[in-house]
Amino acid sequence: MSLKVVIIGGGSSYTPEIIEGFIKRHRHFPVSTITLVDIDAGKEKLEIVGQFARRMIKKAGVPIELEWTIDRKEALIGADFVTTQIRVGGLSAREKDERIPLSHGVIGQETNGAGGIFKALRTIPVLMDICHDIQNICPDAWLINFTNPAGIVTEALLKYSPHRKVIGVCNIPFNMKNSVAEMMNCKAEEVQIEFVGMNHFVFGKRVWIKGEDMTDLVLDKLIHQKVDYSPANIVSLGWSKEFLQALGMLPNPYHQYYFQRDTVLVKDLQAFEENGTRAEVVRKVEKELFIQYRKEELNEKPKELENRGGAYYSDAACSLMESIYNNRGDIQTVNTLNNGSIPDLPHDAVIEVNAVITRDGPQPLTVGPLPPSVKGIILQMKAFEELVIRAARSGEYTHLYQAMVMNPLVQNEGVARQLVDELLEAHKEFLPQFN
Ligand code: G6P
Repeated sequence: MSLKVVIIGGGSSYTPEIIEGFIKRHRHFPVSTITLVDIDAGKEKLEIVGQFARRMIKKAGVPIELEWTIDRKEALIGADFVTTQIRVGGLSAREKDERIPLSHGVIGQETNGAGGIFKALRTIPVLMDICHDIQNICPDAWLINFTNPAGIVTEALLKYSPHRKVIGVCNIPFNMKNSVAEMMNCKAEEVQIEFVGMNHFVFGKRVWIKGEDMTDLVLDKLIHQKVDYSPANIVSLGWSKEFLQALGMLPNPYHQYYFQRDTVLVKDLQAFEENGTRAEVVRKVEKELFIQYRKEELNEKPKELENRGGAYYSDAACSLMESIYNNRGDIQTVNTLNNGSIPDLPHDAVIEVNAVITRDGPQPLTVGPLPPSVKGIILQMKAFEELVIRAARSGEYTHLYQAMVMNPLVQNEGVARQLVDELLEAHKEFLPQFN
């Protein structure tokens, strides 16, 4: 039986990670064809990654056909799963998302604040197009989206695209689970975290180990051991005892932008002067990775890929596809429609939540009302996300300005205007809806 996966953005340096994921799971998730797709500008990288992926498959001895193309429509024929890992405008666009806010004394981050808004504006229309193609060419295929800002993009698609079989995934919940396992000296499979919130703004509300509620103990360890579960792109500042005790939940690494904003800004400005922005660091990491990927003798994922913040995303993505394929009914953390799981949020809002995974997709578990400590900020963040989606679709200056000024990392009417104007100009090539 054929089982085809199409990876859009297949020339990404991350691809060997997902190829390894398919190889590892081949017994239960017998992918027969993988098609890597990229755009013309990414042809050279696509070829290098394609050749390398073939060597990985050959070394593993699994019967997977791997091909690559820049013809997206052709690639989608017969697809069962489509994954998207694209960066519209490439690393130079990311660099602008990071540099321009920093130059105005505001956090410059690719998924949060001003940078995240513009990444969403560039990405949503492209993903909408991809969904139209999927709907026309392979309507039964599931789209697994990792393209950032993953929560906002997934919500835009689930609300407005013709294709509804869309699920967003991120490595953050997965990393949090693994770190708790490390902290508590147990296996990751023995840890269950109940999540509440949205992508890159999710809290670990309760933690169970082997079915026992260990939230307090885990928080205590976090306070005393100063454990760092940040991905490579975030330098953790650690959390104070007072904050963790008051919160009573596990924060995720991206929360530092909101709850340690000024300190992070000082740290980021310093890093910016020393090494440039994260985009520039990533450019160097990628250069090194591609030197390796070119080597004929390389046939396994190199360790250096762990220097990317998204390391291990393939575990989240491949386990999800495997569960859908096998109708497993297990629980995984995904970005999907709220559908009443959190009564304080709209039914059609996308949240990051534990869900039962079957061949019909994710069914979110009930989280219940938002904890009072984070209710206000979660409602504000969700309203902000809605404003971003509206701006991405309408191309209206006022909608965009509203989203910018209401973001907790900006919240300054003058600065918001400058950021909107400068970023619109810097990215105009990739923002046709605003031209
Ligand atoms: C984290 C996030 C991902 C993000 C990545 C960036 O892991 O969860 O959503 O894409 O970091 O990593 P990079 O190496 O590109 O800075």
